[in-house]
Amino acid sequence: MKQAQYTIHGINGPVVKVVGGKGLAMMDMVSVGDEGLIGEVVGVDLDAATVQVYEDTAGLKPGQPAVGQGAPMAITLGPGMLTNIFDGIARPLKVIEEKSGPFIARGLNLPSLDQEKKWDTTLHVKVGDTLAPGQMYASCPETPLILHRCLVPAGLSGKVTRVVPDGAYNVTETLVELTDDHGGVHPLRLAQEWPIRTPRPMADRLPIDRPLVTGQRIIDTLFPIGKGGAAAIPGPFGAGKTMTQHQLAKWSDADIIVYLGCGERGNEMTQALEEFSELLDPKSQQPLMNRTILIANTSNMPVAAREASVYTGMTIAEYYRDMGYHVALMADSTSRWAEALREISGRLEEMPAEEGFPAYLASRLAEFYERAGYVKTLEGKEGSVTVIGAVSPQGGDFSEPVTQNTKRYVRTFWGLDRALAYARHFPSINWLTSYSEYADDLKPWYDEHVGPEFVSSRHQIAHLLQKESELMEIVKLIGADILPEDQKLVMETARLIRVGFLQQNAYHAIDTYVPLDKQLRMMELILKLYHGARDIVSRAIPLSQLKATGIFESLAKMKYEVPNDHQEKFDEYDKAIDEALRQVNEANR
Ligand SMILES: Nc1ncnc2c1ncn2[C@@H]1O[C@H](COP(=O)(O)OP(=O)(O)OP(=O)(O)O)[C@@H](O)[C@H]1O
Ligand SMILES: [Mg+2]
Repeated sequence: MKQAQYTIHGINGPVVKVVGGKGLAMMDMVSVGDEGLIGEVVGVDLDAATVQVYEDTAGLKPGQPAVGQGAPMAITLGPGMLTNIFDGIARPLKVIEEKSGPFIARGLNLPSLDQEKKWDTTLHVKVGDTLAPGQMYASCPETPLILHRCLVPAGLSGKVTRVVPDGAYNVTETLVELTDDHGGVHPLRLAQEWPIRTPRPMADRLPIDRPLVTGQRIIDTLFPIGKGGAAAIPGPFGAGKTMTQHQLAKWSDADIIVYLGCGERGNEMTQALEEFSELLDPKSQQPLMNRTILIANTSNMPVAAREASVYTGMTIAEYYRDMGYHVALMADSTSRWAEALREISGRLEEMPAEEGFPAYLASRLAEFYERAGYVKTLEGKEGSVTVIGAVSPQGGDFSEPVTQNTKRYVRTFWGLDRALAYARHFPSINWLTSYSEYADDLKPWYDEHVGPEFVSSRHQIAHLLQKESELMEIVKLIGADILPEDQKLVMETARLIRVGFLQQNAYHAIDTYVPLDKQLRMMELILKLYHGARDIVSRAIPLSQLKATGIFESLAKMKYEVPNDHQEKFDEYDKAIDEALRQVNEANR
């Protein structure tokens, strides 16, 4: 390949002007300076170009060379990504740390994947077979949980002219030779390259009709997200964005988790790494890392690589989707990513739009979230990428551009609330401002898999919370005492819902993850008490008599008392409700 040779003319932070050559195209990858820093073309003139560099440019000087690589910024995809931790341009952080200490050595163009490790590979084709894009030619167990399926890359087809026997191979060895119609020979290996800014192709987009089950009650019942959907978690400082993302990474029923720490504190990533390594997957009892990939571009790392990291994460997610897996991509935080865009845009001297963000902020966000989806893969399987983006608006002000634009492209919105977090109501998802536009599409799934009672209970719970908020307005003005008894009951039940159901303690062994059937049982018990109590107050018996039995307090604690595998304990609560209602009825006979 002919390389485009340029010379550095000027440097402004991560933005480098190169001159005196020709041949660079937009998005081409460039090796910059004597150390060969990694960069990407973001602007071209006749004999000059602007390059954004993904590494620290300190020490870079005008006059040094810049060499185009003749291809867009791409990453290597293959076995060994799971359990790994990468930087924003998919360099392996553990290897880098071993080689150069905690500070990333520059120009260290390390391969993403271990080149030596041998994978126990099965070949699925024979000489003479005709292969089309998306067809599987080889597979290897990547971890005990995940079979890595190697598929013919998009745009490539032909006849198999050579194939190795089953055995142990590393990612660089040729397994299959594919000869196309023009006689061109293409080696197929365990690993392949893909340009990060190009969405990986699929056969078809399918409707989103099943939830990503998270085990978090307020999410699964009130504001569910579909597999292949997109959600945003906006919230002020310390409201629980990272915690919520971690909970979903640990407990959601995705096959693969891609966790992207974008511009956040380095110690949070270390913590994630440690926690995920210790935790076991609830279904398989395997370490969670066996289905997890971490991408870290923390606040101390170069800003341009942060811009790229979301595409790196998305490309990896799509790659596993194409194998027929359900992938969840968590990005924490997209605001830090947008700030990287803003910084680079400023250095490029582009015209700023709202709050200094570039005018293309909205289209970039759209491009990112549109890569989520439930798809039919080229191979004909079903796979999905669900995207969950944290947003950290300055001062918790949701009217700022990143939150507002994100809202346009996601259909689930979990708005975290400062007041709730302050009151230690976690998760601090505000039930009045949050929404899920998937709820109706998912109803048939809930009806079939949990029972029609699930959705009807959800409606009643949501309705009671809504009524509470209306009554609160009155209570604020004139106090709770003058409310009629049936409205007092609404307030009391809503309080039980908030404390006993919506609040969920991530640190509590039993409460941290709750399966759907248990969520339903909890809702049903709360509603059973409500209906029984309504009957009592309708007969002019004061609610205080029922409260005096302690049944409301008792139900508020059931979340800590009933283990997921001992749900028969709910029967005791069921009996306790009957008993409390009976006592009050008896006393008023
Ligand atoms: N579900 C939960 N259960 C228990 N505690 C929680 C929960 N969610 C959040 N917290 C508490 O809130 C604290 C702050 O949460 P977290 O770090 O996730 O906030 P954040 O929104 O990511 O903050 P920042 O803006 O600094 O990134 C946690 O350390 C934890 O103590
Ligand atoms: Mg955080």
